Amino acid sequence: MKAWLYTTTSPSLEKSLTLHNNALAPPTPKNNELLIQVLSASLNHTDYQYPEQFLNSGLARLIIGTPASPGIEFCGRVTATGPLAQHLKEGTIVYGCHSRPTQFGTLAEYLVIKADKIAILPDGVDINSASAVSICGITAYQALEGNVKPGSGSSVLINGGSGGCGQFAIQIAKAMGCRVTATCSTRNMELCLRIGADEVIDYTAEEDLVRKLASRGSGMEFDCIIDNVGTPSTLYYECHRFLKEEGVFMQVGVESVRTYLRAVWPAFLGGGRRRYVILRRVDDNRRLVKLGEWLGDRTVQVQTDGVYEFHDVVKAFEKLRSGHARGKIVVRVSDPHARDMQSFGIGF
Ligand SMILES: NC(=O)c1ccc[n+]([C@@H]2O[C@H](COP(=O)([O-])OP(=O)(O)OC[C@H]3O[C@@H](n4cnc5c(N)ncnc54)[C@H](OP(=O)(O)O)[C@@H]3O)[C@@H](O)[C@H]2O)c1
Repeated sequence: MKAWLYTTTSPSLEKSLTLHNNALAPPTPKNNELLIQVLSASLNHTDYQYPEQFLNSGLARLIIGTPASPGIEFCGRVTATGPLAQHLKEGTIVYGCHSRPTQFGTLAEYLVIKADKIAILPDGVDINSASAVSICGITAYQALEGNVKPGSGSSVLINGGSGGCGQFAIQIAKAMGCRVTATCSTRNMELCLRIGADEVIDYTAEEDLVRKLASRGSGMEFDCIIDNVGTPSTLYYECHRFLKEEGVFMQVGVESVRTYLRAVWPAFLGGGRRRYVILRRVDDNRRLVKLGEWLGDRTVQVQTDGVYEFHDVVKAFEKLRSGHARGKIVVRVSDPHARDMQSFGIGF
């Protein structure tokens, strides 16, 4: 099969990638596994962070296995099923993700995944959008669910509204009836407003974002803060000035481990005074299905920073790593109208 492969991540994942036309295909699906022909894949920071942090240690090399294809999130076509997954017919279009980078990632023509990690593509939903919801969409949904009361007009601050997680957080918060304030740079203000933010703060125009938030006076407090960025570093430990006493600060993205260290510093020594949660996304089929429904009824519309062709994967990673993608980065992997290898009689 065609696949982008890496065996090392030095000096970086994208600089170590090579495109192959005869890469080893994944093994035949067993138990509840599915063999998927990948149609579209979306990139996430963990695609390079995880292998770069761990690959060169022997343990992670064993966990991932090399040569490996990067990528965890996709939309694709079921082409074979394990004996416990035969309720899914061959040809069904599904979307979902691996929990972490694996040897047979999404930037390859085929992958194998367990049936409980996918959902069936609803009618009318496009493949590129569906490929982009499983990581950032679930993360944003998880950050909001349980922290805001649907329909109660809760007030949410989303730090970093224009990236992968931010765009979902804005749209899901609006679907839950929240009032949304988002931060972004000047060029992304129109985007954040268009997808539903009630108010946008241009972080590039503010010398001190924390002081700006704190100076808004009583009645301007938030019920929930979702921080997708990790800067400014004072956002958490100053947030008692604009986050309600019973409110929660959800840390989704961090600039570095220093973000966490400052957050766990005790309040009596000058640390933060509000509930602090380090969000760790968990696979959740219920949320995955709900995101598909929201795509279907256009409650959520995926904003992409371009759909890259398969041969442009390196450029796509460079854009992601810049930290300035506008929405999700999607890669077209296979032509959805082309026949797959199995129908040409090539077995696995
Ligand atoms: N905890 C979890 O389970 C989990 C899950 C998914 C992702 N994450 C993490 O969450 C973070 C965000 O992920 P992502 O996919 O949304 O990233 P992303 O798509 O790369 O985010 C890029 C966006 O961030 C904006 N941005 C950059 N600096 C900013 C600042 N100082 N203030 C406000 N906006 C700023 C950029 O806007 P401008 O270009 O306008 O600056 C850009 O639109 C990453 O660190 C990722 O690793 C964590």
